[in-house]
Amino acid sequence: MTPHGRVEPAQADHPARQPRIVAEKVNAYFGTTQALYDVSLTMLDRSVTAIIGPSGCGKSTFLRSINRMHEIVPGSRMTGRILLDGEDIHAMDAVLVRKRIGMVFQKPNPFPTMSIRDNVSAGLTFGGVRNRTVVAEIVEKSLRQAALWDEVKDSLDNSGVSLSGGQQQRLCIARALAVSPEVLLMDEPASALDPISTAKIEELIYELKRTYTIVIVTHNMQQAARVSDQTAFFYMGRLVEFDDTKKIFTAPAKKQTEDYVTGRFG
Ligand SMILES: Nc1ncnc2c1ncn2[C@@H]1O[C@H](COP(=O)(O)OP(=O)(O)OP(=O)(O)O)[C@@H](O)[C@H]1O
Ligand SMILES: [Mg+2]
Repeated sequence: MTPHGRVEPAQADHPARQPRIVAEKVNAYFGTTQALYDVSLTMLDRSVTAIIGPSGCGKSTFLRSINRMHEIVPGSRMTGRILLDGEDIHAMDAVLVRKRIGMVFQKPNPFPTMSIRDNVSAGLTFGGVRNRTVVAEIVEKSLRQAALWDEVKDSLDNSGVSLSGGQQQRLCIARALAVSPEVLLMDEPASALDPISTAKIEELIYELKRTYTIVIVTHNMQQAARVSDQTAFFYMGRLVEFDDTKKIFTAPAKKQTEDYVTGRFG
């Protein structure tokens, strides 16, 4: 079933998922503070991996390590390896890594001075795509993928910040999709949204995983259970347990995981 009730196509349509991102013994530091300890985690192609755990356990740091945004923080450092399709991301151009691995943040952050259209096309224009027909096509396609097109198609010249919070978040998702990423990292993408917008984002994640590899951080256990295929539980910078989402929520191997998913702490 999809998160909101539609029936999922037969699993036979899907060959076994291949590893897309492999984290090997990742340690991450802010100055002398260590935020991640030996985190090894494999994220599969066309799957949703949820990262859960109490505040401060390193979820965002892990996400930002995956697309080399951690290194932007002054004084930060990382050891271990992160592979994208078998290739070490630190051997690749950082801008290319961030193009292939897009990110959506907790708080929608449209460019305030730009129209809806320009918000979506910003990455393309920055990347040198100038052909107006091509740009218009990609803007429409990305907004459709982000389930926002019908709401904004007649107001593409309005400011991006004139939209509601839920629409702004879908705009940011469209902006991320416009540059054709392969992986989408989402850091609590629905935590600031009302239930209807949240349901839209969850439906969207379900649609997007047909094409993309998705890693989502969420504090909402029901959301993790609804949208993800696999779930990783982090605690104090360590990966405590990683398994199929169903297993994590019904029969976790570790007591810490059980205590967290049943709301006994966190
Ligand atoms: N820019 C920073 N400078 C110094 N320390 C930081 C920085 N960002 C995060 N940390 C520290 O790293 C640890 C992990 O933080 P992180 O933001 O990854 O946690 P999180 O699991 O995403 O938490 P939350 O659920 O509250 O978003 C925390 O101890 C935090 O204080
Ligand atoms: Mg965080």
